Amino acid sequence: MKYRRLGHSGLKVSAIGLGANNFGTAAKWPFHLGQKETSAIIDRTLDVGINFIDTANAYGAGKSEEFIGVALKGKRDQAVIATKVWSAMGDGPNDKGSSRHHVMAQVEKSLTRLQTDYIDLYQLHSWDDDTPIEETVRAMDDLITQGKVRYVGCSNYSAWQVCEAMWTARSHHMNEMVSVQPPYSMLDRKAEDELVPFCDAYNVGILPYFPLAHGLLTGKYRKGQAPPKGSRLAGNDRGMLTEGNLDIVEKLNAFCKERSHTILELAFAWLLSRPAVSSVIAGATKPEQVASNAKTVEWELTEADLTEIDGILNA
Ligand SMILES: NC(=O)c1ccc[n+]([C@@H]2O[C@H](COP(=O)([O-])OP(=O)(O)OC[C@H]3O[C@@H](n4cnc5c(N)ncnc54)[C@H](OP(=O)(O)O)[C@@H]3O)[C@@H](O)[C@H]2O)c1
Repeated sequence: MKYRRLGHSGLKVSAIGLGANNFGTAAKWPFHLGQKETSAIIDRTLDVGINFIDTANAYGAGKSEEFIGVALKGKRDQAVIATKVWSAMGDGPNDKGSSRHHVMAQVEKSLTRLQTDYIDLYQLHSWDDDTPIEETVRAMDDLITQGKVRYVGCSNYSAWQVCEAMWTARSHHMNEMVSVQPPYSMLDRKAEDELVPFCDAYNVGILPYFPLAHGLLTGKYRKGQAPPKGSRLAGNDRGMLTEGNLDIVEKLNAFCKERSHTILELAFAWLLSRPAVSSVIAGATKPEQVASNAKTVEWELTEADLTEIDGILNA
């Protein structure tokens, strides 16, 4: 495994990470996994050198954190745990958002579920229009002072929102965010408009989510073939299995075949060719997937490769 700095922090995270939103989600979802499956995936994750695990208080209404806590018993120190706060966790007016009240209440619940006394990276899941940013930044800074949280970051923030949060922290000598999570993959490059250049300039770590486009960039969905049984896009294609996307996938497959690589390797290598990317947090439903994802870390794309890929993606 290769390790990268998480933004401008000194924390080293595995270039390939593990996304945990498959763990403990409602049984009706196609990507529901119980404790046994979660533990098997996490054991393999640590075995292959992946240390970065991304979850949220809201995943599986707390079950994802709970299952991770059980799976990491006795191995907590091998993992870098990132979790999130902001989502509605109840019906009350203060059961959501990024207020000091909600953040302080939720961190205790996450720590209990994760069976730990610190969270490595605590992220604001989304921007909260209804709370002054200074209140949120100060609450996060207090959590670092209290030792409950080691680093802070955010997710689904636009470039100006991360900038606003960072400058609020700088102006008051508080700890600033080290990372941001946007949706980002070869099939979704919106982050490149403003967020990626901002992160390059401010040395903020990017943690791309949906890096495999729900599995479309693994090579298992092919033009003219039915989705494999049991795969995420089998019952509900989430708008991903379009003619245009499947055409791009065919071309990317050919590009990889010529170089004796796979599209799965390319999905990770392409994101890791971006200097600001710290860890690519792909989800997994089986331990074997984690093992194959970890192996992709070796392929380094050249400038000529990247230009050719741009040609395919922009055609
Ligand atoms: N901040 C946010 O708002 C936000 C939002 C969404 C997600 N996230 C984070 O991002 C993470 C990643 O997102 P995601 O898991 O939804 O999407 P993803 O990484 O694009 O797709 C993951 C899915 O692809 C399939 N897969 C993974 N590795 C594979 C392999 N080697 N071979 C074949 N199939 C493979 C698995 O699905 P099947 O086996 O079912 O086909 C897996 O669940 C989440 O777990 C979460 O931590 C954050």
